[in-house]
Amino acid sequence: MLRRLYHDQPETFAFTPDNLKWAEAQIKKFPEGRQASAIIPILWRAQEQEGWLTRPAIEYVAQMLDLAYIRALEVASFYFMFQLQPVGSVAHIQVCGTLTCMICGAEDLIGVCRDKIADKPFALSADGKFSWEEVECLGSCTNAPMAQIGKDYYEDLTAERLGEIIDELAAGRVPVPGPQNGRFAAEPRKGLTSLRGYESGKTEYNASAQLAVDIGDTVKRIDGTEVPLLTPWIAGGGKKAVAGKKAKEPKPAAKVPADSTGVTKQEAQATSEAKPVSKSDPGDTAEQQPETIAQPRSGGADDLKKISGVGPKLEAVLNELGFWHFDQIAKWTEAEVAWVDSRLKFKGRITRDNWMAQAAALAKTKD
Ligand code: FES
Repeated sequence: MLRRLYHDQPETFAFTPDNLKWAEAQIKKFPEGRQASAIIPILWRAQEQEGWLTRPAIEYVAQMLDLAYIRALEVASFYFMFQLQPVGSVAHIQVCGTLTCMICGAEDLIGVCRDKIADKPFALSADGKFSWEEVECLGSCTNAPMAQIGKDYYEDLTAERLGEIIDELAAGRVPVPGPQNGRFAAEPRKGLTSLRGYESGKTEYNASAQLAVDIGDTVKRIDGTEVPLLTPWIAGGGKKAVAGKKAKEPKPAAKVPADSTGVTKQEAQATSEAKPVSKSDPGDTAEQQPETIAQPRSGGADDLKKISGVGPKLEAVLNELGFWHFDQIAKWTEAEVAWVDSRLKFKGRITRDNWMAQAAALAKTKD
C-alpha cells in the first residue's frame, strides 16, 4: 500500500505538558543510546493527541529521540496503525481484507463502509466523524470477518451488524467489541468440543472484550484530561495514576448508562454532536454565523496560534472571518462551529482539538 504524507500539513506540533511528561517517562525505560526504541509508543501518543500523525509531529518525535527525520518517517509510514492523513473524529474503521476475512464476507463490510461513510478509503464522511480503509490480516482469522475500530476488534461481523455499529458510534454509544454473533471467544459456533473443563462464564465477555468494556476507551482519544500513565518505577506514579484514571472516566457499555446521571460521557457528547451517518442523510449540523468583528478591539488581537492546531495560516483565515480574540472562540455553539468548520480546510478539526475549551482557558489566563 502506498503510504505518503498528507498534502496539507499543520505548521507545528508540540506535546501537551501531560503527554510530554508521559513521553519522557517512556524514553527513560531504555538504556543510554537506545532511546530510539521508544519511537512507536511516542508516535502513537502524538497521533492520539492530534487525531492523525502530522509531518511536524513526526519531526518533533525524531528530534526528541535524537533520530534522523527519515528514521522516524520510515516507522510512521510502515505501520498502518499510524494514520498519515486526517481520519474521522469519532472513528477510523480498518476492515481486514485478507484471505479468511475476504472468504467470509469482507467485501460486504467494505460495501457498508462505502455506503455509510465514503466511497473511497481515507475519505471523511460528510460530517467528518468517520473514515475507513482496508488493511492486511489483523490476526483474528478465527473470527472472520472482522474490523478494528479505535483500539478494539469487532469480530464475526455481518454487513448488517457493521452498519448498526457505525450508527451506534455515530449516536455516541460504544458497542461492545469482540464477537458479534454470540460467540464468547474463538470457540466453535456450536459450542466447545475440547477443553470443556474451562468455564467461560467468569466474566460477561471474553478477556479482550471485557477489558475493552472495563476501560471504555475504544474510540476515545487522548484529550489532555487524563492522568498520565507513568511507569511505576518513574515518579512513583504508576498505581496512583491508574486509579485516578479509572475514577475519572466513564465506562460505557452497549446501551448501559455508566454513571449516576444515566448517560455516558460519549452519550452526552452525542446528544449535541452525533447523528447517523449515511450518504442520503449526511447528518450535517445546521450552520449559524457567529458574531464577528471587523477589527481587533483596542488592546490588540490575541495570539490565536496559542490554540493547539492553529498555525499562522489558520490564524490569518480566522482573522479574515472576523475572529481576533479567545473569548469569541470560547463562545462558539455547535451550529457556529459548523459555520466556521465549513470555511476551514480540515473538517472536524475544531471539535477534535477542542478549540473552545482551549480558548476559554487562554481567555482566563489573559484576565
Ligand atoms: S484474515 Fe482477517 S484477521 Fe486474518
